[in-house]
Amino acid sequence: MRKTNFSRFWFFPLILLLILIGVYFSKGSLPQEKQKTSPTPVQENDLLNAASVENGKIIFQACIACHTFNEGGANQVGPNLFGIVGALTASKPGFEYSEVLLSLKRSEHYWTTDALYEWLRDPFAYAPKTKMVYSGLLDPQDRMDVIAYLMTLK
Ligand code: HEC
Repeated sequence: MRKTNFSRFWFFPLILLLILIGVYFSKGSLPQEKQKTSPTPVQENDLLNAASVENGKIIFQACIACHTFNEGGANQVGPNLFGIVGALTASKPGFEYSEVLLSLKRSEHYWTTDALYEWLRDPFAYAPKTKMVYSGLLDPQDRMDVIAYLMTLK
């Protein structure tokens, strides 16, 4: 009798073990998943403080296909970017801006670091029908780094 009882319930410890493993893994993975779906909002100032002008210069290599950055530099596919941080939008003389950037200018839109941060994330979302055919920089730190570099152009 005793023997049969035991063999009928041999799997109980196994189930207990599986439950324990399950609890262990769900505990271990929950906080991580939380982090993925709702990251702590990053302060832009923190990003700017941690910004690397050196890395910004490297990222900026993608921009020189269309932009010059030296003082008095020529407009090319895009306008010259010397002194762009803090400048009124669409105000480089001699460049034919798109209507959407000109309308931003009329509403006195300035290229603050905040504005650049959003613009460079996705130019088409920021200013639909812009002439800047550039998909944007997804990495927030890359954006801040390139802005930190743009700030040195003055
Ligand atoms: C494929 C060409 C191209 C690339 C690459 C490009 N841009 Fe532009 N950019 C333009 C054009 C064209 C405009 C003018 C947009 C308009 O009139 O709608 C512009 C406009 C701008 C402006 C607004 C200038 C003003 O006077 O208001 C900023 C700032 C800017 N670009 C920054 C950048 C940065 C930083 C990069 C690199 C991360 C970059 N662009 C990459 C073509 C480009």
